[in-house]
Amino acid sequence: MKKVPSGIVPMIAVDRKAAKALHRQIYDAYREAIVERRLRSGQRVPSSRSLAIELGVSRFPVLNAYAQLLAEGYFESRVGAGTIVSSSLPDRLMPGKPIRARPPANSTGNRPVSRRSSLLPRLDPAPWLRGWGAFGVGQVAFDEFPLQVWSSLVARHCRKMGAKSFRYGDQMGSGTFRETIASYLRTARSLQCEADQIMIVSGSQQALELSTRVLLDPGSHVWVEDPGYLLARDVLTLAGCRLVAVPVDNEGLDVTWGIKRCHKARAALVTPSHQFPLGVTMSASRRLQLLDWAQKYGSWIIEDDYDSEYRYESQPIASLQGLDANARVIYIGTFSKVLTPSLRLGYIVIPSDLVDRFIAVRRAMDICPPSFYQEVVADFIGEGHFSRHIRRMRVLYRERRSALVASISKELGAMVEILGSEAGMHLTVALPDGSRDVEIAERASRQNLWTWPLSRCYVGEKPRQGFVLGYGSTAIANIPRSVCTLRDLLQSKGNPKKDNLRNHGRRGFRERL
Ligand SMILES: Cc1ncc(COP(=O)(O)O)c(C=O)c1O
Repeated sequence: MKKVPSGIVPMIAVDRKAAKALHRQIYDAYREAIVERRLRSGQRVPSSRSLAIELGVSRFPVLNAYAQLLAEGYFESRVGAGTIVSSSLPDRLMPGKPIRARPPANSTGNRPVSRRSSLLPRLDPAPWLRGWGAFGVGQVAFDEFPLQVWSSLVARHCRKMGAKSFRYGDQMGSGTFRETIASYLRTARSLQCEADQIMIVSGSQQALELSTRVLLDPGSHVWVEDPGYLLARDVLTLAGCRLVAVPVDNEGLDVTWGIKRCHKARAALVTPSHQFPLGVTMSASRRLQLLDWAQKYGSWIIEDDYDSEYRYESQPIASLQGLDANARVIYIGTFSKVLTPSLRLGYIVIPSDLVDRFIAVRRAMDICPPSFYQEVVADFIGEGHFSRHIRRMRVLYRERRSALVASISKELGAMVEILGSEAGMHLTVALPDGSRDVEIAERASRQNLWTWPLSRCYVGEKPRQGFVLGYGSTAIANIPRSVCTLRDLLQSKGNPKKDNLRNHGRRGFRERL
């Protein structure tokens, strides 16, 4: 049974000048709140003393009202829990009224919302985004999170907390944390950066939202990779930008195509280290071409470097920002893949001359990032746990990746083409034209496979068919079985009854979470 914390005083107003006695007013107010289900079974009510103080009356009318509510069964007393709304309210206590919430508020008439918000479709999350487990994209090995080390760091920081910890923090984020990140980025990702260019944000998503507000206007043209990352495109759409879908080939974003189609775009949003979702690494010549275009036309490059720590066939590729001689790149990084997405911690490396603008916009958005976990992660990195965790995860993801590639080759063979399996925590399998990836992904979700349909990652006219398969949270033991289920779905020509027969049930596929 859900409980609200004790001591929360319900909306009760008493009128000392009214003819009705005070105890009766309090009794009626509680009774009405219970009948209308604003107060629910098991909910704790404030002590008579604190309610009397809140209402500015003596304790007697409150005690009187409570006694009557107890006698009639609306309240009950529990040892150690004080007085609560009765956990079993029989119908006879609700004369003439069934126990149900008030009818919903009237929602007719003119109810304007912003034009901006209407730019995004109002949809329930797609079926493949509704669950956790095999093939889920953007999911890490949650059960391998170094919980013990983490808990002890959290406990240490809790003990260290003092009055200062509760103030608003620095708008850019904690200085220590930013120094740590700057040092990591210079070393591991070849960035040119100092701590005062780094702004801590709530994941890549906020980084992109902030960058959009600083750099782009409604109507600005922006190159986006096609296929690309849907949630990033949503930010641009919401800002009223015009998306220019630039194809991706085996060298990454086709810059020549972009220049031909719209050379004056204000910005390009790219994932050069590991293109999402095709997994291509942008070639050196394309990188130089992109930087050259940005300098020539006064455009910005937003580099989303979301999972570059995980490469299996070669050394990590240096960032685009590291090659940029003209401060045209806004670099975005995240802890969602290297640690865990629930932290909501990411960062932007901002060209020095734009830092003030980013701060001004940030102030209008959320003032500053929450401080606690910044300090924890700073120590996690500083004490060497971070690099150890990455090394361990690299081994684990490599094994999962190899098991997945082997299973796909065995079970799906010529039915699919595997793309981008050299890095990251997902790979893509392309299907022949004419396949129905959305329909299959919907059916797969009913069997606890959370694969994304590739066609949904496209903006352009000719989407390729296929699936993005995450393996970050897919245990090796589950991989062959999950691939077989996918094979059956591909072969079963869309008969939902047949799918249900094959459904092994939720628990069978659940990961060790
Ligand atoms: C291309 C891309 N960028 C960024 C992210 C991470 O976003 P966030 O840092 O907001 O969790 C993801 C997650 O799946 C992604 O696929």
